[in-house]
Amino acid sequence: MKVAIVYDSKTGKTRRAAEEMAAMVRDAGHEYSVHPVQEADPAEVAAADAICIGSWTQGLMLILQHATQATIDFIDLLSPLHGKPAAVFCTYLVATGKMLPKMADRLRARGADVTGQFKVRGPMAAKSFGEWVRTLEKGG
Ligand SMILES: Cc1cc2nc3c(=O)[nH]c(=O)nc-3n(C[C@H](O)[C@H](O)[C@H](O)COP(=O)(O)O)c2cc1C
Repeated sequence: MKVAIVYDSKTGKTRRAAEEMAAMVRDAGHEYSVHPVQEADPAEVAAADAICIGSWTQGLMLILQHATQATIDFIDLLSPLHGKPAAVFCTYLVATGKMLPKMADRLRARGADVTGQFKVRGPMAAKSFGEWVRTLEKGG
């Protein structure tokens, strides 16, 4: 399987989280790509077997949290995903509100089967991300 990881990071935490996720994907025997949303090619990402999209949390700390506009715009650019497995993730400081379910809905609107939602309060992969990786078939 090839897993495409795309992230938006302002100060580097989401980038480091995405890179750690990429290492977990690699260690599980899959191929991966990892790109900032500003450089990712929507056609290449849509062609992967599984997709992970992450953003830093933008909002008023306790309320109105959302993914960045660049993240949302990127999701909307993806061609139909025909039930491909997908996950959304974010890094945050205080609270994420409905940000992850909203990202998941947006990705579902592109046809993805969103089976993972992960949040971390720092520059690392969520521990439970490994379980999501294990749901992907090897070599598929
Ligand atoms: C303008 C701004 C708004 C933020 N709003 C929130 C928020 O609503 N909730 C929260 O938990 N963290 C919020 N944060 C914190 C960041 O989401 C958090 O530090 C994140 O890990 C940064 O990721 P990055 O290093 O990849 O940019 C905000 C940060 C900034 C700069």
